[in-house]
Amino acid sequence: MSMMEHLDELEASALADLEAAAEPESLERWRIRYLGTKGRLKATMPMLKDVSREDKPAVGKRLNAVKTTLESAFEERKSRVEAPGAAGPALDVTEPGMECGLGRRHVLTRTIDEVIEVFGRMGFSVAYGPEVEDEWHNFNALNIPDDHPARDPIDNFYVNGGRLLRSQTSTVQIRTMERVKPPLKIIAIGRVYRPDTHDATHFSMFHQVEGLYVDRNVSMVDLKTALFQFARAYFGPGAEVRIRPSFFPFTEPSAEVDMKMKIKGSYQWVELGGCGMVDPNVFEAVGYDPEEWTGYAFGLGIDRIAMRKYGIADIRWMFENDARFLRQF
Ligand code: DAH
Repeated sequence: MSMMEHLDELEASALADLEAAAEPESLERWRIRYLGTKGRLKATMPMLKDVSREDKPAVGKRLNAVKTTLESAFEERKSRVEAPGAAGPALDVTEPGMECGLGRRHVLTRTIDEVIEVFGRMGFSVAYGPEVEDEWHNFNALNIPDDHPARDPIDNFYVNGGRLLRSQTSTVQIRTMERVKPPLKIIAIGRVYRPDTHDATHFSMFHQVEGLYVDRNVSMVDLKTALFQFARAYFGPGAEVRIRPSFFPFTEPSAEVDMKMKIKGSYQWVELGGCGMVDPNVFEAVGYDPEEWTGYAFGLGIDRIAMRKYGIADIRWMFENDARFLRQF
């Protein structure tokens, strides 16, 4: 056998043996056998002297190539054998599956669903409106004239084309009355936007539930009864409602609403929003006859309801999407 053939044979059998070495001990035996100081590769060196002078450069080169091939094959094999888990099969079908965490509704979504449910039982259906509004629905139709300070660009998110992100869900009162004839009984729930500086109780986006009931002979007693029934159903039998005189352009008379709700075991008063009897100007704006129709309206902050009901101290936590927070509810 020529020296060249001998090297080919050595390389082939070394690589085949290497492939069969599956654990560190057999790998080490392989290394000693082929690459060790008394190994088979070293043993070929003395044979070089028997190679003819003109063949020597080619054979020497081949010898070096075999050495490099075996060394790098060894390193490669070694790293695979020693890799974690390399000893077992690549896929262990007996391993238990990864636990799939159960999702849940966001605490606000849950609060919204609960509020819809309670008002639903009282005969309110749900109405929707856009979050990008025009000034007619956000202001004028609600009896908020052009020069009213509430329309200041500092206090609203105006976008192009005389539109703005709605600052209140009262817009949906107008949109609904423009569409349907009285009587009607609706709530509208959703996001509203105001450029407030963020802190524990303020966020530039929050949620409101708006209520509107229009019929003949609706009175302030009906309004207070509805709010009271909601408070009882949602916050428990010890809940109460208190209304204080106030002003809103779209109601006359207007009031602030406080509800007594259970917070950490005891009942406390929490300011939740505004309410009142629909202003005749609002009815006129939507084409209802104010001589025939009467109505009440209210708007409550849902984020605040959720915060007080679930003991959440900072409104920002609700919008950070931190699973450690969300998982608690
Ligand atoms: N839209 C008012 C606000 O965001 C809340 C409000 C007050 C809504 C009185 C009403 C209402 O429907 O009658 O501050």
